[in-house]
Amino acid sequence: MSIFIDDKERIFKLDTANTSYIMAVADEPGYLGHVYYGRRLKDTDVRYLLRTSESPYIPSKNNRDKLSFTDCYPMEYPVHGSGDFRESALKIRTQEGYCTAELHYAGYSKERLLKPEMPGVYGDNGEVLSIVLKDECLDLEVVLKYTVFDDCDAIIRHCVITSNSNPLYLERAFSASFDMDNDGYELITLNGCWARERHIERCPIRHGLQGVNSRRGETSHQHHPFMGIVSKDCSQTQGEAYGVNLIYSGNFFSGVYEGQFDNLRIMTGIDPEDFEWKLNAGESFTTPQAVLVYSAEGLGGMSRTFHDLYRQHLIRSPWKDKARPILINNWEATYFDFDDEKLLAIAKEAAGCGIEMLVMDDGWFGARNDDNCALGDWTVNENKLKGGLKKLVDGVNALGLKFGIWFEPEMISPDSDLYRAHPDWAIAVPGRTAGLARNQYVLDISRSDVRDHVFKSLADILDSANIEYVKWDMNRPLADLASLKLDADKQKELSHRYVQGVYELQGRLMERYPDLLLENCSGGGGRFDAGMLCYSPQIWCSDDTDAIERLLIQEGTALIYPLSSMGAHVSDCPNHIVGRITPFETRGYVALAGTFGYELDITRIPKEDRAMIPAQVKMYHMYHELVAAGDYYRLASYSENKEFDSWMCIKKDKSEALLTFIQVKGRPACHSRRLKLQGLDPLKKYRISRFDIESVSEKPYGEDKAFYGDTLMNAGIIVENLWGDYKGMLLHIKSE
Ligand code: DGJ
Repeated sequence: MSIFIDDKERIFKLDTANTSYIMAVADEPGYLGHVYYGRRLKDTDVRYLLRTSESPYIPSKNNRDKLSFTDCYPMEYPVHGSGDFRESALKIRTQEGYCTAELHYAGYSKERLLKPEMPGVYGDNGEVLSIVLKDECLDLEVVLKYTVFDDCDAIIRHCVITSNSNPLYLERAFSASFDMDNDGYELITLNGCWARERHIERCPIRHGLQGVNSRRGETSHQHHPFMGIVSKDCSQTQGEAYGVNLIYSGNFFSGVYEGQFDNLRIMTGIDPEDFEWKLNAGESFTTPQAVLVYSAEGLGGMSRTFHDLYRQHLIRSPWKDKARPILINNWEATYFDFDDEKLLAIAKEAAGCGIEMLVMDDGWFGARNDDNCALGDWTVNENKLKGGLKKLVDGVNALGLKFGIWFEPEMISPDSDLYRAHPDWAIAVPGRTAGLARNQYVLDISRSDVRDHVFKSLADILDSANIEYVKWDMNRPLADLASLKLDADKQKELSHRYVQGVYELQGRLMERYPDLLLENCSGGGGRFDAGMLCYSPQIWCSDDTDAIERLLIQEGTALIYPLSSMGAHVSDCPNHIVGRITPFETRGYVALAGTFGYELDITRIPKEDRAMIPAQVKMYHMYHELVAAGDYYRLASYSENKEFDSWMCIKKDKSEALLTFIQVKGRPACHSRRLKLQGLDPLKKYRISRFDIESVSEKPYGEDKAFYGDTLMNAGIIVENLWGDYKGMLLHIKSE
């Protein structure tokens, strides 16, 4: 059992294998307070931590100074307006324009997780605690939901907010908030831009509000709905790490507020700037889910908990535990300049190398020969694909390859038949010229008629040939927000309704094509988030396919998301984004840390590179299971040491591991480095061999002898200098 309730003391305790999360109700008027979140505790009644007995300001004793109480009490779900002057999780406006609310405890229930929300976590072993809070004046009910699983150290929160008798407006409705004392914690966020997504940043926490958000209608390339609150000594292997990640694909806010008494309020939810939700009497609003993870084993422990949760309880696709077909995508190979002959030539060469799927990217439809037109016109361009799509797909299948296709379903080009027929389907403010990005507008996916049209366009294509994979792209943010179908007092619902529309469409796709392999994408990694992972088991990580840039992007992404979800390809050099030249072999090792595939013109790359592909394909088959299902340990970070990067993927039973080492920069006068391994069984003896790409076999590495895991982890191994920049190697570590 994971949820304990002390009815008499009004204490709620959630236990996972290694963590406890505790709340308690203060005496009258019944504020729900956050007591503790951290390492697992044996005691349940720790309400002394609420400190109400030492407070001279408890309203029941001293209502004269009630605001002094509300201003410091650790509210579990703080509301705006009634004297908690810190950041609030909930802000309500009445029809009269009043913005004060106050929530009091009103009861609880506990049940199995039967009907999971989408997007959200699922699992037979989930238990849900629902704590009911009420504002009697507003006749408002807020149910705080906590989901726990017996096999995972995570707590998943969301809220259901109901107005029982009056129309109310939600100006802010976060998913989670909790307070704690600041033990000198630091803040980790993931930031960047297009082609440089999710770089890790760490800084001290200071007084006031610090955080990140998106107001682009998508999670964005710039910031990420993740926040790590970590102790100063927190590293990969030690220290405390709290991770907070929102299961959402639109505007988000993730922030920490340090107040006057040096305590922290950690919060996440939909960004309030472009949000408001009207609740008519009897209506409810359900917030997105937020995942909270606590690790006493540093960032590594935190990452592994997220990975396990997402692999076991979030990703739904039947592909989630299966080897994904090694694909070759024609985007960087041809851009818009392709026809059926070119694609078949690529497919033929790819088939000869053992590649398993051809993905036809942007440019196969309407009059699209560049990125200026035709989004929305999802009919095959038969000037390019002579004889039609089915002929091409059959041809590719005949070569032994599966076939995948690219769509950008949420968009509309001003120069398209769709726009000429339905200009009002584009998101734009009437009477104002809307801004273009990549010469396109965003379709108003919040509208069901628009969604029906989009779905039919997709289904017509998918039904016309044997298409087994879809890359769902999204290449611009939302701006000029207005929806012709929404009343004036619901216009600020558009951004959230848009995200719900995307989910509804992808849910429909999953239902109608249950075996389809869906890969989400947004101009690279602009919508790599836990919300999209509910619909697609993999997401394109970044348009930057340079192996060295990818080290930083993939390190940041893997801080939360399993390697099996990271779309990663080997591309051609000089790299199209940064112009860097790296060895083909190294590009393969870096892509192996994701889904693995190719993004190049296999008919034109250098002969030596082409010759290496069959060996890389075998390498993928040898090791992908360790990568996809194993436990991830980061040994070294190029972002920190500026010279090399290294990580391990370890089989759950610790019998086997794959270590990747990338020497980004050769170091003068350095013969070798000592590298301490992690995650092995200290009592098991392991032998190490190095993967040799030439012979596609493993050769003993270092001493041809077995060593205890204990030695390899505490004393380390010797990694020889690889002589040169951008060099890499794979070590296979196997127990005897
Ligand atoms: C952005 C994606 O990230 C690329 O991989 C490619 O599909 C282009 N869009 C096509 O327009």
